[in-house]
Amino acid sequence: MYPLRLLDRSQFETLVGMAEAIDGVDRAYRLFSRNEAGVFPVIVHQFEPGKREMDLKAGHLAGAGVYGMKMLGWCAENPARDLPPLAGLIVVMDVDTQQPLGILDGTPVTFLRTGAAGAVGAKTFARKDCRTVLIVGAGNQGRAQLWGLSLSMPALESVLVCDIVDEHATRFVSEQQARYPAFKFRAVPFKELCEEAPSADLIVTCTRSREAFLKKEWVSPGTHINAIGADMPGKQELEPALVASVKIFADSAAQVVAKGECQHAAKLGLISLEHITEIGAVLEGAKPGRTDSSDVTLFDATGMAIQDLVVGAIALKKAEELNVGTVVNF
Ligand SMILES: NC(=O)c1ccc[n+]([C@@H]2O[C@H](COP(=O)([O-])OP(=O)(O)OC[C@H]3O[C@@H](n4cnc5c(N)ncnc54)[C@H](O)[C@@H]3O)[C@@H](O)[C@H]2O)c1
Repeated sequence: MYPLRLLDRSQFETLVGMAEAIDGVDRAYRLFSRNEAGVFPVIVHQFEPGKREMDLKAGHLAGAGVYGMKMLGWCAENPARDLPPLAGLIVVMDVDTQQPLGILDGTPVTFLRTGAAGAVGAKTFARKDCRTVLIVGAGNQGRAQLWGLSLSMPALESVLVCDIVDEHATRFVSEQQARYPAFKFRAVPFKELCEEAPSADLIVTCTRSREAFLKKEWVSPGTHINAIGADMPGKQELEPALVASVKIFADSAAQVVAKGECQHAAKLGLISLEHITEIGAVLEGAKPGRTDSSDVTLFDATGMAIQDLVVGAIALKKAEELNVGTVVNF
């Protein structure tokens, strides 16, 4: 028999906050670059594209003593059934004993680790004097990304929010203004994206779009872009000509070419793997990041199992210390 800890959403949320997730994801990227962490091929299946999809991500952080997997499903019809659209599980295993350490609700971990990925991307590649962020996609990730940026970009003052459903952006603004009173918020109608994008120092795209909505000519010199939404074949937010014209950084070069924003420019032959630098190498000082204040930089993040595992492991360790969660003897 062995003890297996189960953590639900509220238990997880009391144990890990964004600041710890940022440290964890930063560490995971570094371990990945030192070959002390790795990911296994991602399994993606679209039962009905844009309606029902699942992915299975697995990896190891031998350098942090854990390995495991996340299985996540998404169903567009679930809100009408009073079910969450996104649901899944994370299983964390111990490298030393090869015993399962615990199982966590995959949704809050995904929310937090992806916000943390955006925060690490912005602090690594954006200009330190970034004052205005444009967030396109006023959903869960819009909220997670803003939380991450609020901790990683100290000069931030203004938040522009845009969504294909204008009402999502206005709702986001009124809700988040109360949470971050120091920021100046403004909802941007989707049809005005072309006029507002050039004023942003930092652009975050986090939608479920399957066609490009951000054009090269709308992005000013010196801008950093965090491309978060495209994490499956067919998803797209940026015009391929934009991707091909910038300095490209990624969580995993292989993953972004297969299923991230870079998939489209790569398919068109505009870029290839050698144009992409992994963030871990920049964090470790092995490769340069932004070298000029006028560079346009892109961080293409498709999400890696090692982010889920590092954050899951932090939660499980704290849960053991504080005796939080349900322990089942298997
Ligand atoms: N890279 C990663 O690690 C990672 C992690 C989690 C989620 N994601 C991806 O991020 C995306 C957003 O996830 P979420 O949980 O915030 O979804 P969500 O459904 O909560 O929010 C998506 C928002 O995008 C808007 N939108 C949809 N299509 C649009 C378009 N064409 N243009 C502008 N806005 C559009 C919707 O109106 C909605 O407000 C998804 O594609 C998801 O798979 C990526």
